[in-house]
Amino acid sequence: MIRLLFCLMILAPGLGYRINQNEASLYSKDDNVVMLDSDSLPPTLSQKSESKLVQFLNSFCGDCQRFAPVFKSLSRDLYQWRRVLHIYAVDCAQEWNVEICREFNIRQTPTLRYFSAVLAGKDLGLGVDIPSQDPKVIFSTLADLVSMDKYDLPGQPNFEFVMPSDTLDSLFQHDGQAFVALVYQPKDSQIGRDSILSLLPYDQLSVRVFEDYQSLFNLGIQPSNQTVFMIDREGKTEALSVNESYQASIGKFLQNRNYKPVPSLPETIKSDASDFLDQQKQAIIVQVLNHPRKIYRADLEQAVDKLLHIELPKTLIFRGANFMALQSFLRVLSQLNPLNKNGKVLLLGLDKALSAFNQTSGSEFADTVNALEKPLPKVFKGKRYVGCVSSKPFLRGFTCSLWSLFHFLTVEAAKSPNQLPPGTVLSAIHGFAKYFFGCSDCSNHFQEMAKRRRMDLVRTHDEEILWLWAGHNEVNKRLSGDATEDPKFPKIQFPSSEDCPSCRTNNSDWHTGEVLQYLKDLYNKENLSFYGLPTSQGYN
Ligand SMILES: Cc1cc2nc3c(=O)[nH]c(=O)nc-3n(C[C@H](O)[C@H](O)[C@H](O)COP(=O)(O)OP(=O)(O)OC[C@H]3O[C@@H](n4cnc5c(N)ncnc54)[C@H](O)[C@@H]3O)c2cc1C
Ligand SMILES: *[C@@H]1O[C@H](CO)[C@@H](O)[C@H](O)[C@H]1NC(C)=O
Ligand SMILES: *[C@@H]1O[C@H](CO)[C@@H](O)[C@H](O)[C@H]1NC(C)=O
Ligand SMILES: *[C@@H]1O[C@H](CO)[C@@H](O)[C@H](O)[C@H]1NC(C)=O
Ligand SMILES: *[C@@H]1O[C@H](CO)[C@@H](O)[C@H](O)[C@H]1NC(C)=O
Ligand SMILES: *[C@@H]1O[C@H](CO)[C@@H](O)[C@H](O)[C@H]1NC(C)=O
Repeated sequence: MIRLLFCLMILAPGLGYRINQNEASLYSKDDNVVMLDSDSLPPTLSQKSESKLVQFLNSFCGDCQRFAPVFKSLSRDLYQWRRVLHIYAVDCAQEWNVEICREFNIRQTPTLRYFSAVLAGKDLGLGVDIPSQDPKVIFSTLADLVSMDKYDLPGQPNFEFVMPSDTLDSLFQHDGQAFVALVYQPKDSQIGRDSILSLLPYDQLSVRVFEDYQSLFNLGIQPSNQTVFMIDREGKTEALSVNESYQASIGKFLQNRNYKPVPSLPETIKSDASDFLDQQKQAIIVQVLNHPRKIYRADLEQAVDKLLHIELPKTLIFRGANFMALQSFLRVLSQLNPLNKNGKVLLLGLDKALSAFNQTSGSEFADTVNALEKPLPKVFKGKRYVGCVSSKPFLRGFTCSLWSLFHFLTVEAAKSPNQLPPGTVLSAIHGFAKYFFGCSDCSNHFQEMAKRRRMDLVRTHDEEILWLWAGHNEVNKRLSGDATEDPKFPKIQFPSSEDCPSCRTNNSDWHTGEVLQYLKDLYNKENLSFYGLPTSQGYN
């Protein structure tokens, strides 16, 4: 049965790209968030008369996953503002979005950018950064930005103050309007602006703000201590008493006359995780959970594939320190290559191409990769995670494959005869984490850990293997029980006592000598599993 499933998988190579595009995404229209890609983002941003909030994210990054429920709930609340504000998201972890994320200079995720309703094309620039993940701060920043924008479609709000020249005609500009609410805003207050925003769900109402009773003269309203006036199309005016808030008084007034706010979004039905588990995935999970645990070539291949086609080319420019980091990283990859023959040709070619420059851009880098890859059939064949399979959307995958690759590289480097001095692999990983890792929290933690655990003191290849093992266990401990933990693959102190009974002492300390041997066996190239790839012969 399992074999049959894999035949089906292998028969559909190259399809992965488009199939993936239909895979689950972190957000949906039901949350008031529309996913965009490199084709749909530019025309959407150029639409006038709507403000746009765009979240650039990396679906594999823990921070983005943890932020998702917050952003969803905020976006659902902001559905109330849909007359002026639309919400979008772009997943920078997808190959087809690399270019657009590079153009918008997305250096960390999640990144929130606001795009104005009046600017379009070049004038839009890269948008306004909203550097917070606190929903209250985001909400109030958006209130500032949205109210400074201009909207000109019928039914859209006008944030400008009422002018002495305003008349009944100038206040009622379109047919759908049943009432205008005039609300008083004392100096240094935002009560008027906030009323406009909070009353947006009433389609038949326009709220206008006045600072000065003189400006109501043409409307026949005398200066008084009243603060809210409702006017209908005939000019009939009624002052409202305000006990609680402008919003409450005006809302009550409208509801008494049977005007209802547009309802909020219906609750979404939580989709069952089992929908996500197709038969192939279930077969893979059964295989991967077998003991003894194995490391899968398919994952190492996926890691390199995503690195070359997504993570690295997202950089705008490689120059100076980040160019050196790129060079060291690719040197290590090409020398300790986990790929097949063609993959070796590709990585060596890339290493050579880079040594001819002292700087390059992300798009040149992508072009170089593509040019080298073109004459080489089938470098990347699996296009699917195996050991890094997940039982729920967005978990494991890329970051898991990176760890697997990194451990593999430390083990490979320890084999003689090897030219790379001890510590080279760790410093290449460090450079990658510092400059290129799209997961910002991972990058920051790793750099902090490298200092604290004195990565610079690693003197032998064996120490290098164990340093990464201990560091990884520290990350596992921190993330144990986190929202990003896959229940089928709990974060344990690795290896489990089941997989390596001799690795632990009786008082659950480590026998590092045993651990070292276990890692050298597990990550040994000869011991890697081909499961999920075309046959092992076909692989090399
Ligand atoms: C450098 C780096 C830093 C990261 N930092 C963060 C962070 O700060 N915050 C965050 O939310 N996420 C971080 N991540 C992601 C996170 O560590 C996991 O990759 C992600 O949660 C997926 O976990 P997983 O269950 O697939 O196992 P992973 O932790 O990804 O491990 C992959 C596989 O490696 C093997 N393994 C596990 N532990 C060890 C070990 N100690 N030694 C050798 N092999 C081992 C197991 O086979 C495991 O299945 C980081 C990832 C990387 C590569
Ligand atoms: C307005 O002021 C008058 C007198 O100054 C007072 O009698 C009246 O109660 C006030 N009305 C409100 C709604 O505060
Ligand atoms: C405000 O309070 C007065 C008296 O308590 C009441 O008659 C009126 O209906 C209230 N108005 C609103 C909008 O709640
Ligand atoms: C890169 O090389 C060019 C010449 O090929 C040189 O002029 C330039 O200064 C170098 N830049 C750096 C950053 O080394
Ligand atoms: C651990 O405990 C077992 C019995 O439970 C004992 O035979 C063994 O000697 C102990 N090993 C160490 C290192 O203490
Ligand atoms: C493969 O792993 C086994 C243990 O699982 C070990 O005995 C063997 O030495 C390993 N092979 C290599 C080449 O490391």
